[in-house]
Amino acid sequence: MARRIYIFDTTLRDGEQSPGVSLNAGEKLQIARQLAKLGVDVIEAGFPITSPGDFEAVQLIAREVRGVTVAALARANYADIDRAWEAVREAEQPRIHTFIATSPIHMAHKLRMTPDQVLEAAVAAVKRAKSYVSDVEFSCEDASRSELDFLCRVVEAAIAAGATVINIPDTVGYAVPEEFARLIREIRRRVKGIEKVVLSVHCHDDLGLAVANSLAAVLAGADQVEGAINGIGERAGNAALEEVIMALHTRRDQFNCVTNIKTEEIYRTSRLVSSLTGMPVQPNKAVVGKNAFAHESGIHQDGVLKERTTYEIMNPVMVGISQSTLVLGKHSGRHAFRQRLEELGYQLTDEELNKAFARFKALADKKKEITDADLEAIVEDELRPVPSTYTLEYLHISTGTTVVPTATVGLRRGEEVLEEAACGNGPVDAICRAIDKITGVPCVLKSWGVSAVTGGKDAIGEVTLKIAENGGKTYLGRGFSTDILEASAKAYLNAVNRLLWEKGKEKQ
Ligand code: KIV
Ligand code: ZN
Repeated sequence: MARRIYIFDTTLRDGEQSPGVSLNAGEKLQIARQLAKLGVDVIEAGFPITSPGDFEAVQLIAREVRGVTVAALARANYADIDRAWEAVREAEQPRIHTFIATSPIHMAHKLRMTPDQVLEAAVAAVKRAKSYVSDVEFSCEDASRSELDFLCRVVEAAIAAGATVINIPDTVGYAVPEEFARLIREIRRRVKGIEKVVLSVHCHDDLGLAVANSLAAVLAGADQVEGAINGIGERAGNAALEEVIMALHTRRDQFNCVTNIKTEEIYRTSRLVSSLTGMPVQPNKAVVGKNAFAHESGIHQDGVLKERTTYEIMNPVMVGISQSTLVLGKHSGRHAFRQRLEELGYQLTDEELNKAFARFKALADKKKEITDADLEAIVEDELRPVPSTYTLEYLHISTGTTVVPTATVGLRRGEEVLEEAACGNGPVDAICRAIDKITGVPCVLKSWGVSAVTGGKDAIGEVTLKIAENGGKTYLGRGFSTDILEASAKAYLNAVNRLLWEKGKEKQ
């Protein structure tokens, strides 16, 4: 039978210790609610003694969030433990998590305590926490650099004092998977009473091994994994919980373990944590990065379109991403190109597709990512080249923070040059109004976007926009220039010319 692994989330405590991150109580509550939805077993809501703000956040989460254990952290002293209890006491399932360092380096230099004093403090802390609540977690900070005999003595004493969860942290991310697994096996083998408690691990990512060490520990007999969403946390961060969860899930053949996690909530949780902490998720981040389910190479895109599992070991839907994306760029092939055009509503003949594909490849050499608007423009240009009824002769703009934006526009129509001026809410609005006065076709600007086609300060800007006449059909326009206002005028004219041409055809 599959073993149950408990997921302990410390995004709001260790995760919030990420340099530069500070969440207020309301933001923490929002994340805690989402973590409960995700189905984590324990939310470590904070370290109440450290600040009134942390106390308030833990108390709020304890009062408001149901169906999950809420833990509060405390050093191994009475003042910390009393404050932790005060903050967490109203939780449906409260837990006090107390810790003390057991490595020679921490005991000698940080705590300035002898091993016997540490052992005594650990026992006293667990007993104090136990006087408040039955669920008590005890951690040996820097366990992976502790002497095994002493570590086992402290763990055994903490269990005898009433600890129900024993946590073995790799506090400084020093361990490697084989070694960490051996440590967990040794603790399981040597410590009296270990079978009565939940054995937990808490790994940091200083060598990029936090997830690997956590998984090795699970194989060696750990019951609980601690970590943070998006892997945030002190220094290089904690084990990324979404990676641990999806590894256990995807490789159940190896781990034979289950969690209580609703994996479909993973992506939403990751986005929420990223936006509230202000810590962006790197694009190539496993499971939740922007590129985690994006395929650019033609060979890969062709494979995924034929059978998703050729290049995807997880279904993006399973982590809450609606579908994999085929990023159209210079490595993309005809298969993905046709597929995207079909999604955009274009059915091309083979000949039309060949022509459009050649244009696409030429553009992809200049631009890293090709957008849907680029594709529409390519197809419209290739299949429905628009005669230029109006062309831009000149453009003069007056704008700034203290003047009303005004545009004077000269348009050529055959032999004539027609001029008009207009004011607007901004320079682009003024340009569009001046053009409308000349063409007599009042349009609504539905969308406007600019991107750089080339790099550097003198980059060519490309404006892509859509207009609609009286809320009716939309028409696409594109314009290029090193000046984005000129590019806007050209794009608007391109769309107006398309509108006039299609209207003219309708009348024939
Ligand atoms: O990394 C660590 O050792 C910790 C403990 C407080 C569990 O965060
Ligand atoms: Zn930690």
